[in-house]
Amino acid sequence: LNIGVLVSGGGTNLQAIIDETLAEKINGQVKVVISNKKNAFGLERAKTNNIDAIYETDENKIIEILKEKNIDLVVLAGYLKIISPKFVSEFENKMINIHPSLIPAFCGEGYYGQRVHQAVLDRGVKVTGATVHFVDEGADTGPIIIQGTVEVRNDDDAPTLAKRVLEVEHKILKESIRLFCENKLNIQGRRVFINE
Ligand code: GRF
Repeated sequence: LNIGVLVSGGGTNLQAIIDETLAEKINGQVKVVISNKKNAFGLERAKTNNIDAIYETDENKIIEILKEKNIDLVVLAGYLKIISPKFVSEFENKMINIHPSLIPAFCGEGYYGQRVHQAVLDRGVKVTGATVHFVDEGADTGPIIIQGTVEVRNDDDAPTLAKRVLEVEHKILKESIRLFCENKLNIQGRRVFINE
């Protein structure tokens, strides 16, 4: 399958996907990386791997590019922009997002990046983690594909927690994409059944 990845920052999740496709552990290829940030390092990662890297902020143009390239799966990997209902409907059940918490906790407006981990510490929860979900009209509200957990430690601060959560993000994102490309994800309303 043809995969399109949208990034806004460093692109470590993108790198994890690229590595997995190169290792042929995913039945798919990253055909394009698009960022709304001109100097997102994720674009560099794409170029290094001879993948089309495009800076674009106009959503209609982004949709056009994805269609032109026959993208079957859109992955939001650290893409810090709300997806419009139009964009969602263009890629209904073909767009997934990685969020650095166990949704529905610590998600939605204003919860992104380090803020998520600081909120986790401020609330004193003992377990946090990451979630891969299909994108629907809401912010981080779509059907959940996979979640991974991370224990919060006494000596954690936002950066140390972010680091351990990011490792789990990479793992569950690769697994989610593998399952999607093998057509093993069965969405039933709010639930996703995995036919492994
Ligand atoms: C990280 O905060 C991650 O939790 C979230 O987006 C941010 C950047 O990830 N998914 P990446 O390194 O750009 O993939």
